[in-house]
Amino acid sequence: MFYSDDVIEEVRMRNDIVDVISGYVKLQRKGSSYFGLCPFHNEKSPSFSVSPSKQMYYCFGCGAGGNIFTFIQEYENYTFPEAVKMLADRAGVALPEQEESAENRKKRDLRTAVLEVHKTAAKYYYYLLHTEQGAHAMKYLKDRGLSDETIRKFGLGYAGQYSDSLSRYLKKQGISDALLKESGLVQLSEKSGMYDKFWNRVMFPIMDINNKVIGFGGRVMGDAKPKYLNSPETIIFDKSRNLYGLNVARTSRKKNFLVCEGYMDVISMHQAGFTNAVASLGTALTSQHASILRRYTQEVILTYDSDEAGVRAALRAIPILKEAGISTKVLHMEPYKDPDEFIKALGTDAFQQRIDQAENSFMFEISILQRSYDMKDPEGKTRFFQETARKIADFEQEIERENYIEAVAEKYQISFEGLRKMVMSHLLKGVPVRTQTAARSRTELSREKDTGILKSQRLMLTWLAEYPQLYPQISAYVTPEDFSDELYRSVAQMLYEQLAQGAPNPAKITSQFDDPEQQRKIAQIFNTEVRVETPEEMKKAIRESMRKIVENGIEQRSAALDPGDMAGLQAIIAAKRKLSEIGKLHISF
Ligand code: UTP
Ligand code: MN
Repeated sequence: MFYSDDVIEEVRMRNDIVDVISGYVKLQRKGSSYFGLCPFHNEKSPSFSVSPSKQMYYCFGCGAGGNIFTFIQEYENYTFPEAVKMLADRAGVALPEQEESAENRKKRDLRTAVLEVHKTAAKYYYYLLHTEQGAHAMKYLKDRGLSDETIRKFGLGYAGQYSDSLSRYLKKQGISDALLKESGLVQLSEKSGMYDKFWNRVMFPIMDINNKVIGFGGRVMGDAKPKYLNSPETIIFDKSRNLYGLNVARTSRKKNFLVCEGYMDVISMHQAGFTNAVASLGTALTSQHASILRRYTQEVILTYDSDEAGVRAALRAIPILKEAGISTKVLHMEPYKDPDEFIKALGTDAFQQRIDQAENSFMFEISILQRSYDMKDPEGKTRFFQETARKIADFEQEIERENYIEAVAEKYQISFEGLRKMVMSHLLKGVPVRTQTAARSRTELSREKDTGILKSQRLMLTWLAEYPQLYPQISAYVTPEDFSDELYRSVAQMLYEQLAQGAPNPAKITSQFDDPEQQRKIAQIFNTEVRVETPEEMKKAIRESMRKIVENGIEQRSAALDPGDMAGLQAIIAAKRKLSEIGKLHISF
C-alpha cells in the first residue's frame, strides 16, 4: 500500500458508503440498511445491502462485499490506490504526494499513456471508416448487415490502406517511438523500419469493462490469410482476462450470458437484441474468464460454432465453467455455422427459440460421446451406455444421478432400472462398499462441521460489530485465538482492539487487506445472519455460538499441545472449566 492507514481511513470516513453507492445503484431503506439490485450479478429482487452503521456492503445473493474501496475497485475495475485516489478527489481530501513507489508510478503512467494511444487510434480508425478511403470497408460492414447504430456502438473502424498510416498519424501527435512500440499497434523491423500492425482491415476495438479501448481485432475484407489479426498482449491487454462485449453485456440484466467465438457473432447478437453475448476471441475460455463471468451470472449458454472446433471448444469450456460455479447449456446452431449466420438466415425469434431449447451440458457431452460408438451394434451400444453410466456415477449427489439416469433413459429410450443398475455397479466398483461410504460420510461430516464452526465464528463477529455492548461478556470467554481461520483470527484481533478502545469499525478493518477477495470475505463475516424471532432465542444463539467456538478452540489447542507443555495444559483445563459456565451465562443487551 502506498498511503498510510490514517490517510486511507480519512478518505474512507469522508465518503459515506450509502452516498457513494447511491450514485451507482438505486437504494431503498429497509430497517437499518439500504437494499438494491446487485450490480455484480443478475437479479430481479434486491439482495444487495449497504449498511450505514458498518459502512460496508454485502450481497446475500452472490456474496460480493467489502467497504467503499472494495466497491470502487470491483465496480470500476480500479486498483486499490486508484480507488483511494478517486474517492479522495470526490471528497476533496488532498492526498500526500510521493507516497507511490517510483516504479509503480512509472508503470501506471505507462498504462495511462498506452490507453491514450489506443483511444487515439480507435478514433482515427473510426474516422477513416467514414472517409473516401474507408468506403469499401464501410460497404463491407453494411453488406454484412450492420446498421450505422451498431457500427457506432462498437466503434468499428478501418485501418487505412497504407502500412504506415497509423504510425505517421500518431507520430504527428507527438507520440514517441518507444510508446508506439509499447502499444503493440506499431512494429519495428530493421528492414522496413516502422510499420503498422494493422492495415487495410476492418477494425474491431476491444474494450475493457470501463469502455476503455485495450486492443484491436482487424479483419481482412476478402479471403486473405490470416482472416483476423489481433493485438498482442501488452501492458493493458491480457487475452485470458478479457471478454469481447463484456462492457455492454455486464449491464444487460439478462438471466444468463451467451458465450461465442468471434467478433462478428457478438456484434450480430447484440444487434438482434441479445446484448448478453460475449466472446473469448480465438483463445480458449480460461478459468479467469469463467470467474469474471461468475461475477455477473450463474448460467452460460455456449453459442460456439457448430463445426468440429466449436464442439471441442465447448467440451473444454464446460468443466472450466462448472469449476467456477456456473451451469452451462449448449445451443444447437445446426444447420448454420455460427450465431451471425444463424441470425442472418432465420432471424431473432428463431434464435431465441434455440436459446430456450439449449441443451444441458451433460446431455451435450453424452451426445458427443455417442458419436464414437456404433449404436447399431449391440456391443457398441452397450459400451456407450456403460461409459455414460460411469460418467453419471461421477455426480456426487444421489438426486443428481437419478435425474440424469432419468434424462438419459428417456432420451435414448432405454430402461431406467437397467441404466440405474449400471450406475450403481460403477459406484461400487473397486472400492468395497463399506469403506467407500464410510470415507465419504467422514469427509462430508468434517466439511459440515467445518462450515458450521466457521459460521458460528462469523456470527460472533457480526454480533460484536452490531452490538458492541456484548463485548465485555463475550470477550470474557471467547478470545481471538479461538478463531480457527487465519483471516477470521486477524479480523477478530482487530475488532477486539477497536472494541476495547471504543467503537467497532469493520470498514476500517477491511482497508487493512489489499486483496478484494479477502475484503469480500470480511464483508461476509460482518453480514452473517441467523433466524431468531425473539430476544430469548437470540441470547440462546449467542450462548450456543460462544460454546461452539470455545470448544473448537480447546480442541485445536489440545491437538497442537506439546505433551511437556504444562502451562498449556493448565490453560486448556481452565478453558474447559469456563466452557461449562457458558451454558448458564446471562446475556444482557
Ligand atoms: P471464425 O473463423 O469462426 O470467424 O473465428 P468468424 O467469427 O465467423 O468471422 P467472420 O464471420 O468470418 O468475420 C472466430 C474468432 O476466432 C478468432 C477471431 O476472434 C474470430 O472472431 N480468429 C479467427 C482469429 O483470431 N484469427 C483468425 O485468423 C481467425
Ligand atoms: Mn462468422
